[in-house]
Amino acid sequence: MHLHIDASRLSSELNALATFSDTPSPSVTRVVFTETDLKARTYFKSLCSAAGLIVREDAVGNTFARWIGTEPDLPAVGTGSHIDAIPNAGMYDGTVGVLGALEAIRALKAASFSPRRSIELLLFTSEEPTRFGIGCLGSRLLSGPKSLMAGEAFKDREGKTLNQARQAAGFTGPVESVALPANYYSAFLELHIEQGPLLEQRGVGLGIVTAIAAPASARITIEGVGGHAGAVLMPGRRDALLAGAEIALAVEAAALSTNSIDTVATTGVCQVSPGAVNSVPSRCTLEIDVRDIDQARRDSVLEKIVAACREVSTRRSIPIHYQLVNADPPAQCSPEIVEAIVATCQAEGLPYDLMISRAYHDSLFMSRIAPTAMLFIPCRDGVSHRPDEYASPEAIALGARVLALSLARLSSS
Ligand code: GLV
Ligand code: MN
Ligand code: MN
Repeated sequence: MHLHIDASRLSSELNALATFSDTPSPSVTRVVFTETDLKARTYFKSLCSAAGLIVREDAVGNTFARWIGTEPDLPAVGTGSHIDAIPNAGMYDGTVGVLGALEAIRALKAASFSPRRSIELLLFTSEEPTRFGIGCLGSRLLSGPKSLMAGEAFKDREGKTLNQARQAAGFTGPVESVALPANYYSAFLELHIEQGPLLEQRGVGLGIVTAIAAPASARITIEGVGGHAGAVLMPGRRDALLAGAEIALAVEAAALSTNSIDTVATTGVCQVSPGAVNSVPSRCTLEIDVRDIDQARRDSVLEKIVAACREVSTRRSIPIHYQLVNADPPAQCSPEIVEAIVATCQAEGLPYDLMISRAYHDSLFMSRIAPTAMLFIPCRDGVSHRPDEYASPEAIALGARVLALSLARLSSS
């Protein structure tokens, strides 16, 4: 098949998508269900319609753009990623897997390829935990279980529930309708930047993911006693921030204590109330992210953090509330889908590495309902979740090319 990936069209669409941001370029901030997110989705849907794809949205805004195959009743082949971006992110995380997949589909169409199985491009809602505190919200709900509570259970910092936020954004059906039926997809394949340095260091253009590390997160609320920064004397204080600082250090120590390079833990959010220089912090909220490729070891770190909360609470006489938000198992990619990508690379004479993903992705949840794998491309210095995140047009085009050929292979089987 003569396949032409239009790298400059793909670059200009990535650049256009990056203009939908609540922070100035090169930083990208696009939080789920904001005006900016909705405008970016409209742009994406217009590109899909122009490419002749049939677009539908579910009750939480997961967006499906389908190229109908010659045997439309067969389980489809899925591909896609997310376009939401954490505060002050870059422009490639997720977007490469969405617009790269669209370019892959357009290239297959231009090459007169005719898929047997339908090929479906997904834009997942809220892969990032920024707004609702939990990652992969859309794919989590797609993979079930059907939960009547889900729409009320997740709240943003203003106390708005997922139901309120999605309905205000125009997504109104019942949340329990989001879960996909069994055998909806015969395969799912996500293209993504590596978000780590290995491919670039090794000079290899493609990474085929065999497993995704197990993520967990927790919210810790510390209820101290506030007061006047001049008048409350040091011996009587119950400073919520200082308790939080001790816990943040305990999080670091817990991760280091495994002596494994694969354990990572981060205190990425620390909110202090009332947030005045002359007021003793009365409340401190921490959000903590813990990951490992080994689930039991990840869980042992969580236990150490819980123990640290208890110890600090007792010693400082401050109530500390620990809430586990999620503790997901790791995902194994499907050997069959990995093999299909390997065969594509070999047929094209393209070097590749097998690797694990330390970042999480919607594929973590898609792997629960479909044979799933991921394709990585290098990004500069492994940088991600920063405005200077960068992947070259050539690297992205190569990823889109291998994605297209792999989708062709998977949709023909
Ligand atoms: C995804 O954005 C992650 O935090 O791994
Ligand atoms: Mn991300
Ligand atoms: Mn991502």
